Amino acid sequence: MPTALVTGAAGFIGYFTSKRLLAEGYDVVGLDAMSDYYDVALKQARLKLLAADERFEFVQARVEDEGVLANILSRGVDLVVHLAAQAGVRFSIEQPRAYLDSNIRGTFELLEAARAHPVKHLMIASTSSAYGANDVYPYVEAMRTDHQMSFYAATKKACEAMSHSYAHLYNIPTTCFRFFTVYGPWGRPDMAPYKFTKAILEGTPIDVYNHGNMKRDFTYVEDLVDRLVALAAHQPETGKPAEHDSLSPVAPWRVVNIGRGKPVELADFIAAIETAAGRKAKQNLLPMQAGDVPATWADTTLVDALLGPQEHQTSLEKGVQAFVDWYRGYYGV
Ligand SMILES: NC(=O)c1ccc[n+]([C@@H]2O[C@H](COP(=O)([O-])OP(=O)(O)OC[C@H]3O[C@@H](n4cnc5c(N)ncnc54)[C@H](O)[C@@H]3O)[C@@H](O)[C@H]2O)c1
Repeated sequence: MPTALVTGAAGFIGYFTSKRLLAEGYDVVGLDAMSDYYDVALKQARLKLLAADERFEFVQARVEDEGVLANILSRGVDLVVHLAAQAGVRFSIEQPRAYLDSNIRGTFELLEAARAHPVKHLMIASTSSAYGANDVYPYVEAMRTDHQMSFYAATKKACEAMSHSYAHLYNIPTTCFRFFTVYGPWGRPDMAPYKFTKAILEGTPIDVYNHGNMKRDFTYVEDLVDRLVALAAHQPETGKPAEHDSLSPVAPWRVVNIGRGKPVELADFIAAIETAAGRKAKQNLLPMQAGDVPATWADTTLVDALLGPQEHQTSLEKGVQAFVDWYRGYYGV
């Protein structure tokens, strides 16, 4: 059985990724610090479902603690999916140190571990926020990404650069992923889909930034995990990149967008929640928040070239309905 290490396994994307890897026949070691950035009970509930499979082993630890990841990789791990991070654009303005520790120091420890104990493929989560102030759409991996707008985005961009240097120096096949606003059941309480659904069901107003003039490339979590897990078999090899490929000429390293590729107006997203919830939203129209960007839009040419076009993509209506149904069921409302 191949073994995968999933860091951040009790997190939103980590839960779905672990579940999918187990289904694909991997033994999974899931590591998570169970940080209290949001409700720990939600993380525990996700873990409980994963722990029902005896091929899932849980390790509670912080990625930046020296030796923790090296110890796990020394047991022989084929695939690493590194999702553990301090996420969130807004919180990075209040608590930048959390991002330095979890994201930069944590990824550094992972790279050191992989240098000592080689793995077949290192897969590292980055973010669409890495595109920063870019206002040419859609976002293509080969674009320059020099102007991050938040410290969160800056730490993720740093992780991309750090992993490139290790891929080059130690020949570690590495794929970084720029995820685009992921939503779905078990989603994060700090993100808009969750906050909007909660407020609409409670009859309280929702905060709508930039007066609603926002577009997001909302990506359904199961669709994202389809692409992520399929790419595990596509280890980059150093070479001359094909057109549209972000492959490095000096390292087995590339960066890949994973998004739906169809940005949605915030108003349409809110309308989909209203329909799914059967209630109207009360809206508080507010100015743009610091660190935020008005739009995100993934160019999916590269991932489509590597895997073929995605045969099944969840529609906004179905995805939002699945989230609202989960929310009602989980919280009993
Ligand atoms: N959800 C999105 O829309 C989105 C978009 C772009 C990028 N990402 C990235 O994808 C990854 C997963 O995001 P998510 O939405 O599942 O977030 P999440 O917060 O639900 O999951 C992250 C998990 O990592 C754990 N963690 C945090 N710091 C840790 C540390 N120092 N050591 C060990 N574990 C730690 C947390 O406890 C949490 O369970 C993150 O790297 C995030 O930056 C997410």
